[in-house]
Amino acid sequence: GTGKLWGARFAGGPSPELEALSRSTHFDWRLVPYDLAGSAAHARVLHGAGLLGDADRDALLAGIAALGERFEAGDLHPDPADEDVHGALERLLLLEVGEEVGGRLRAGRSRNDQVATLFRAFLRDHARVVGGAVLDLVDALVGQAADHLGAVMPGRTHLQHAQPVLLSHHLLAHVWPLLRDVERLRDWDDRTAAGSPYGSGALAGSTLGLDPEAVARDLGFTGSTANSIDGTAARDFVAEFAFVAAMTGVDVSRLAEEVILWATKEFGFVRLHDSWSTGSSIMPQKKNPDIAELARGKAGRLVGNLTGLLATLKALPLAYNRDLQEDKEPVFDSVDTLEVLLPAVTGMVATLVFDVDRMAELAPQGFSLATDVAEWLVREGVPFRVAHEVAGACVRRCEELGCELADLDDAELAGIDERLTPAVRDVLTVEGSVASRSARGGTAPDRVAEQLDEARSAALAL
Ligand code: ARG
Repeated sequence: GTGKLWGARFAGGPSPELEALSRSTHFDWRLVPYDLAGSAAHARVLHGAGLLGDADRDALLAGIAALGERFEAGDLHPDPADEDVHGALERLLLLEVGEEVGGRLRAGRSRNDQVATLFRAFLRDHARVVGGAVLDLVDALVGQAADHLGAVMPGRTHLQHAQPVLLSHHLLAHVWPLLRDVERLRDWDDRTAAGSPYGSGALAGSTLGLDPEAVARDLGFTGSTANSIDGTAARDFVAEFAFVAAMTGVDVSRLAEEVILWATKEFGFVRLHDSWSTGSSIMPQKKNPDIAELARGKAGRLVGNLTGLLATLKALPLAYNRDLQEDKEPVFDSVDTLEVLLPAVTGMVATLVFDVDRMAELAPQGFSLATDVAEWLVREGVPFRVAHEVAGACVRRCEELGCELADLDDAELAGIDERLTPAVRDVLTVEGSVASRSARGGTAPDRVAEQLDEARSAALAL
């Protein structure tokens, strides 16, 4: 034959142009270990169905193991004429065990159920790697929060000073979305593990009495697909993985953007460690936050991988279509991107040096204690609408005088509103302000200390 998986009904071989277009070995070769594991499971299930004798099964398993060793040794390569990893491995297995025995393995399976299974298995492994790398970043953030438990900073909305918060509270605000990303990977995995497509065949299932549940368990799945058409045609598991990857990239990018701002002269909140920042080829003084900028840039790429994949899937009729071969490159790229990005971001975060004095100096500026004045008045029995007006008048007076709220003397305060007694000064400190936000979820030091424990336990539970 032509050495291909198909050919008998064709008079001539494929054109070189078709081969060039069709070939996927340059990207699907990384599925080799998964294809081999699937083949071994398939040999066992064929044996279980009485379609393969003991000796043939053992010969196939030995041949598959030999290919696995050659792959590990970097000594297994596709031919230019191989269409995909599945065809190449069948050809190589025939060379290993002979055509008679090797030719028995394809019974009852199709590349359609094969690839749908292998891609799941590949992504399940990498979901664990990516999840572990996200948890390392969480550890770095939690470590910085623990080291700066009481430090204050200007909290912002619209990038303008809003209310003072603890730096630890702000850092933990980046932790929770990342923990949810890992949670998303975990429940993605539960769903993905429940539907091994092996046994779906090309689309309609297998006639050979093979047990899909046995193959599923053999490959580490918790169950097999309920519908062979769905098993071969569905790629929502790929899109969902790509979404979690994109969401993780976006969450990291929001942190990265803040590091970029914090490292500017104008903010002056952090210094980057020399080993986790870069210089300029012309400007000798430069120290650039390249890791953070790359994180911001890679987020765009991760979003692109997701949208490209959804565009491929949109309006594809059931069951398998060759378009589906386009599912792999974007998501391989998302996996590779996160696996190289996350450790770099983790190192950058772990080595950030915060200028807590600078942050504390800015925390009360920009009238960030105005809400505290209004809420103090509310506690004195003033309706909030009125209190808001009075505190606003304080801000206007400060702008006229060119001072901050805490600089208004008793006479100024009483002149604005008689209810502004000197006692209001108790809340005109950053410490008083943060301490008073003491309900669950608030920025009071005691609450943030509890939150830190909560985040640590949540990370450990994942
Ligand atoms: N390489 C293909 C893919 O990745 C699997 C092969 C299915 N090809 C086919 N003609 N049915 O989707």
